[in-house]
Amino acid sequence: MLRVQHITIDHPLYEQEIALRTAVLLAPIGYNIEDYKAMAPGREEQCEHFVATVPHPSGERVVGTATLFIDQDQPDSDFGKVQQVCVDKQLQGEGIGQKLMIAIEARSFGELGLSNLYCHAQLSAMPFYEKLGWIAEGDEFDEAGIRHRKMFISAPKPIESSESTH
Ligand SMILES: CC(C)(COP(=O)(O)OP(=O)(O)OC[C@H]1O[C@@H](n2cnc3c(N)ncnc32)[C@H](O)[C@@H]1OP(=O)(O)O)[C@@H](O)C(=O)NCCC(=O)NCCS
Repeated sequence: MLRVQHITIDHPLYEQEIALRTAVLLAPIGYNIEDYKAMAPGREEQCEHFVATVPHPSGERVVGTATLFIDQDQPDSDFGKVQQVCVDKQLQGEGIGQKLMIAIEARSFGELGLSNLYCHAQLSAMPFYEKLGWIAEGDEFDEAGIRHRKMFISAPKPIESSESTH
């Protein structure tokens, strides 16, 4: 049974989160986690971390992960940036990424009251975000040697109660 958990970097599953991010996102572009952290010092610690796990005889196994960054220096900021979204290569296409994103949206819009989420989507992953209702914005750009586009989604509008005329 897949479970999405919101963890901190001192959680025992954080090590598996890093291993998965390294295997799926960082190593293919020649980065390790220290290189990634050096791009934005302190951010890794400020982020909220989400892991999708499945039960395993040796304990829970992390099969998907993502981080959510809210700039603490800007208390009025109600934008969150979703980063480092990835799923175990053997398990891609089984709905894990979608469940992870739905959990992050619920946390962001429901609990944190953010108004928007955005990400820098690799062009190859854009259909994944589009299926979740995310919208591309602006031109393509290069990040770590990969073509990206900014994508965003806004918080759902509250349902207006229709006034009764009776
Ligand atoms: C992109 C990624 C996170 C998606 O997670 P996933 O678990 O494989 O995706 P899901 O199974 O939840 O897919 C949900 C839907 O998006 C579609 N989808 C997912 N990735 C897609 C892709 N790269 N291109 C086209 N469609 C894609 C799925 O087919 C599925 O569509 P459906 O609902 O019509 O069946 C995962 O494939 C991954 O880790 N890719 C490599 C790293 C990466 O590109 N990360 C994103 C960086 S911005």
